[in-house]
Amino acid sequence: MTSLQKFLAKIDNINNQGRGEVFDKSEEPLLEIPFALPDEIIEYVNDDSGNASFINFNVISPHRTEPVCPQFKKCGGCSLQHASETFVTEWKKSVVVRALEQKKLYPKFRNTYVAPERSRRRAVFSGRRTKKGTVVGFKSPRSDNIVSIFGCIIIDKKILSFLPGMQKITALACTRSSTIKIHTSISENGLDIFVESGRKLDKALRIDITSVAIKYNLARLSWDGEQIFLSKPPVQRIGKIQIFPPEKFFMQATKEAEIIMVRDVCEALSNAKNVVDLFSGFGTFSIPLSHTKKILAFEQSAEMLSSLDSAWRRTSELKVIKTSIRNLFKNPVSVEELSDIDGAVVNPPRSGSSAQCKELAKSSIPTIVLVSCNPTTFARDAEILVKGFYVVDWVRVIDQFRWSHHVEVIGKFSRRPEFTN
Ligand SMILES: C[S@@+](CC[C@H](N)C(=O)[O-])C[C@H]1O[C@@H](n2cnc3c(N)ncnc32)[C@H](O)[C@@H]1O
Repeated sequence: MTSLQKFLAKIDNINNQGRGEVFDKSEEPLLEIPFALPDEIIEYVNDDSGNASFINFNVISPHRTEPVCPQFKKCGGCSLQHASETFVTEWKKSVVVRALEQKKLYPKFRNTYVAPERSRRRAVFSGRRTKKGTVVGFKSPRSDNIVSIFGCIIIDKKILSFLPGMQKITALACTRSSTIKIHTSISENGLDIFVESGRKLDKALRIDITSVAIKYNLARLSWDGEQIFLSKPPVQRIGKIQIFPPEKFFMQATKEAEIIMVRDVCEALSNAKNVVDLFSGFGTFSIPLSHTKKILAFEQSAEMLSSLDSAWRRTSELKVIKTSIRNLFKNPVSVEELSDIDGAVVNPPRSGSSAQCKELAKSSIPTIVLVSCNPTTFARDAEILVKGFYVVDWVRVIDQFRWSHHVEVIGKFSRRPEFTN
């Protein structure tokens, strides 16, 4: 019997995926060891796929803590429960600092905001049948296994209490080998559920699924794009304004983080009168801003914009919100179209908004706020603005995906005084 060769490595860094990393002499990544912290000395072997597999600690970081969740390491939902809260908060900030430094940007940072435990109000789970029954949860970090969310410390308990319902749906909908996705969102009137199953609903299955929806007092249940159950409108609320979202929609992962983002955006744009909201979704920023400003909202989802438009039409409290369906990657709002605008908020998906930022960088808008869930594309887009007419006033890191490697950033940019009229 041959024993695997053991190696020793000192961890230099944590990479953007939250994994320990060892550099070579030219500071290029040489090796990745999950769940390791900087300055730890680790004994490891190479597994069958050539990945480093942890065996033992020779030196342990003072920042190491006992994970709260027993599923940690198996479940792909969290990657940093082995580090103290202070360490994770500082590390998330350092990811943003590094990304900006690589673009030669050294802004002032506002205090990092960390969302509370069990505050995720929206999550997507996988469901599958097993030999013993069903499993519903997040996928493992490096395999197709699904790990149950039973006892999860990131998800709001209103979603967790629906776990037996999700297991029942999985048992009804899955074949021996299929996997379904269950999108869950908390609404004011109960859970709003969207199932991606790929399985056609016959009469019997429709009745069974509907009875799960009734039992768990769901507000709405949709199945592959078809609404099959609605007991009460699945209301989301922005300030006092009610939104009736489409079946599949985006909203910020926690209400607490959304409040901080909205506060920062409204404060930064307090002097503006005509604001453009780019990648507006259903109006998370448009609605609070429109109490005092006229808004042009651009977004590619017609359904999300329709929710925003009808919310605006139902209330007399808001100034004008004009919505436009637009693919801003292919067809960014041009500098000419921005000529009457004096404030902008840009909140793109992970890939960022370089085409749109190239137009903004040439504009005469006094203030631009960039909100992003990807520090790398945030830094790239910030550089585009700064190479145009802008300076960065401040940046704030928001940790709304606790114990994961995900980092949210918000930054305020002002047109340089020498270019202002
Ligand atoms: C991060 S979300 C932000 C939504 C909104 N600002 C909020 O906070 O709720 C990004 C939004 O960009 C939209 N989107 C994605 N790709 C787009 C594109 N190419 N053009 C325009 N909008 C796009 C998505 O539909 C989504 O609503």
